[in-house]
Amino acid sequence: MKSQKQGHVLVVTYPAQGHINPLLQFAKRLASKGLKTTLATTPYTLKSITTTTTTSLQIEPISDGYDESGFSQAPSLEAYLESFRAVGSKSLEDLIVKSNNTTSPVNSVVYDSLLPWALDVARAHGVLCAAFMTNSASCCSLYWRVDRGGLDLEREKGSVLVVPGVPPLGVNEMPSFLNGEIAQSPYLALIMEKFKRLEENDWVFCNSFEELEGELVKAMQGLWPLQMVGPMVPSAYLDQQIEGDTSYGASLWKLTSDQHMTWLSTKPPNSVIYVSFGSMADISHKQVEEIAWGLKASEKHFLWVIKEPKNKLPNGFLNSLGEAGMVVTWCDQLEVLSHQAVGCFVTHCGWNSTLEGLSLGVPMVAVPQWSDQPMNSKFVEEVWGVGVRAGRNEEGIVGREAIAMSVRAVMEGERSGEIRRNALKWRVAAKKAVSIGGSSDRIVDSFVELLKGKKN
Ligand code: UDX
Repeated sequence: MKSQKQGHVLVVTYPAQGHINPLLQFAKRLASKGLKTTLATTPYTLKSITTTTTTSLQIEPISDGYDESGFSQAPSLEAYLESFRAVGSKSLEDLIVKSNNTTSPVNSVVYDSLLPWALDVARAHGVLCAAFMTNSASCCSLYWRVDRGGLDLEREKGSVLVVPGVPPLGVNEMPSFLNGEIAQSPYLALIMEKFKRLEENDWVFCNSFEELEGELVKAMQGLWPLQMVGPMVPSAYLDQQIEGDTSYGASLWKLTSDQHMTWLSTKPPNSVIYVSFGSMADISHKQVEEIAWGLKASEKHFLWVIKEPKNKLPNGFLNSLGEAGMVVTWCDQLEVLSHQAVGCFVTHCGWNSTLEGLSLGVPMVAVPQWSDQPMNSKFVEEVWGVGVRAGRNEEGIVGREAIAMSVRAVMEGERSGEIRRNALKWRVAAKKAVSIGGSSDRIVDSFVELLKGKKN
């Protein structure tokens, strides 16, 4: 590392909601500890960032070649990634070089692990480098073992997968890209790429915490420079006092109103089901219909985020709602989950949503769709005991009865007390991990101190 007095870290994001949130949050944590921090994000997503820049957190554009239109205008995912690799490498290099003429030259890069070329740029400029994982460490370890040939999925097809540090996984419990279901997805290539040179990083940060995936942390010792620094939930939701840190500070979709918050305030504590499937999953019409009638059949109040309600919801559903339910196209999920009226989270189990549900102590009904979600949902039910998985029918869909039954199981069934107690236990553990002296906080501290040069 170059010897300089003041550390400066460049945090590079990938432009998807579930990636910007944890990376921006990590950047804010680093900045709050007095480390000069720059968040590099694509010009298109930069417009969605509402966090005010402070002297310690700067925000700079990094080009992906689609500065005006963003990712959606790329002809394919492969073309987009290729463009980001080529244009982004140069753009990242420019940011590092530009800082060399200041009092705080960049001495480290933290990059979203979907952008593995950042490692080459960092190394070319002699700066420290860390990959940031936005999935669970358990899920990442599985991909890594596949990449290293430690898992032959063809041979294991149909059998239970047993890997160190992870509970045995049935076919429907492993990431969908690995179980053959979506084996041809370009996302698989994108994901596998990040594991090829993982160990070359100085650190591998993961948006998780040691207590949550203790067995995995033990199993990966000596294999990766793995460091659990999460959960990356804004500090105000974890009863902490980082100035201005009351939301993620970035939203790729617009909040049209806050009527839903007013509506929530009229409901008794723990009485409302919050339903959301994150930012990427495309839920089929049939599945949406089953969820709709399942929610109605549960006879509970519900707040449902659905991006295209008019296209997706069954005819007459919206008009039939009355006071029973509310549908919005986007919301501030943390604000909703932390509202006392919310007593159940019907979720696709995207990793951010899972961590948010855990950190806010909200019992969950897991309706996983793809990617890492089936695996996360297994942990929700079997490892952490904070919810149930809604069963699929022979068509591969979660039917209305399963939705209604799962919601009741979590909110009033025999096991609901235990689920709620577990949820509160994990909320306490999550807060502890990021509080002063907690397992994640200690790691962030030592990273900051190292970069500030105090331990050089
Ligand atoms: C996906 C994967 O499923 C996830 O596991 C992976 O790590 C990143 O890509 P996504 O489908 O968007 O992400 O889900 P999730 O990880 O849950 O992230 C969604 C984010 O959007 C959450 O932070 C959530 O708080 C936010 N959100 C969602 C809102 O702010 N408002 C909404 O209405 C819905």
